[in-house]
Amino acid sequence: MADLFLKQAKQYWKTRPGYPQQLFDFIASKTPTHDVVWDVGTGSGQAAVSLASIYKSVIGTDTSKNQLEFAPKLPNIRYECTPPNMSMSELEEKIGTESSIDLVTVAQALHWFDHDAFYNQVKWILKKPNGVFAAWCYTTPKIDDEFDRVFQKFYSESKPYWEAERGLVDDKYTGVKFPFDPVDGCDHTGPFEFETKQVMSLKELFTYVRSWSAYQTAKGKGVDLLNDDVIEEFRKAWKEDENGEKSVTYPVYLRIGKAGGMVEQQAI
Ligand SMILES: C[S@@+](CC[C@H](N)C(=O)[O-])C[C@H]1O[C@@H](n2cnc3c(N)ncnc32)[C@H](O)[C@@H]1O
Repeated sequence: MADLFLKQAKQYWKTRPGYPQQLFDFIASKTPTHDVVWDVGTGSGQAAVSLASIYKSVIGTDTSKNQLEFAPKLPNIRYECTPPNMSMSELEEKIGTESSIDLVTVAQALHWFDHDAFYNQVKWILKKPNGVFAAWCYTTPKIDDEFDRVFQKFYSESKPYWEAERGLVDDKYTGVKFPFDPVDGCDHTGPFEFETKQVMSLKELFTYVRSWSAYQTAKGKGVDLLNDDVIEEFRKAWKEDENGEKSVTYPVYLRIGKAGGMVEQQAI
């Protein structure tokens, strides 16, 4: 899983959406202190940058060095390239000690993780009882009825090239394992819905598609998902000059919970 994003880091950085301020304000309102965040699967820093304006420091980790190379360098963000499954001693060395982190975030990446091992570490490292874990995903872009129909057809045809885990995103993270208590003021852990908007040209939308792991997987099997027929269909639905920009909306689905009581001491 961790290798899926090695090849397309530049396309990723150029075209992936950031996330709305409302999402970060909601999450930040649930952590009593705003000291340290661990953003896991940070990619090219799409969430880390916004978190850095709210929290004193952010540690952004990713298994892909290529992705991290494109992440904006800010004085209060430390990026680390980590293995897919860190040992507890690596966790303590690179991220922090037990009960030291206010917030752990995962943006558009939780579906790729080994959940049991990861949650063990999240629960160990979060401050008790109010440290917060927040993970969100976004689904496919929306513009207008005609374009959305063409995009949905294209997305369905790309299904054979997605890993099974992508199904968790299609289900808006309703089915993702989430062993956390609801945060204060909420009676469930989500999904809570937000949306993020991005202005892009059709060309940029094609670059976004090329940043999909499924696009790269298909390419590896000799299939170009964006073949001439598909491109023509998209052009017709776009209607205007393909360099002209449109506002594209992505629905975002947040799961959020808090660490709760102490966890059993792990062997380090
Ligand atoms: C779809 S990208 C999301 C990047 C960014 N957070 C965003 O919101 O756009 C998924 C990222 O998770 C990373 N990743 C996959 N498995 C990982 C793991 N086990 N630990 C840390 N990062 C991982 C990939 O390298 C990739 O950069």
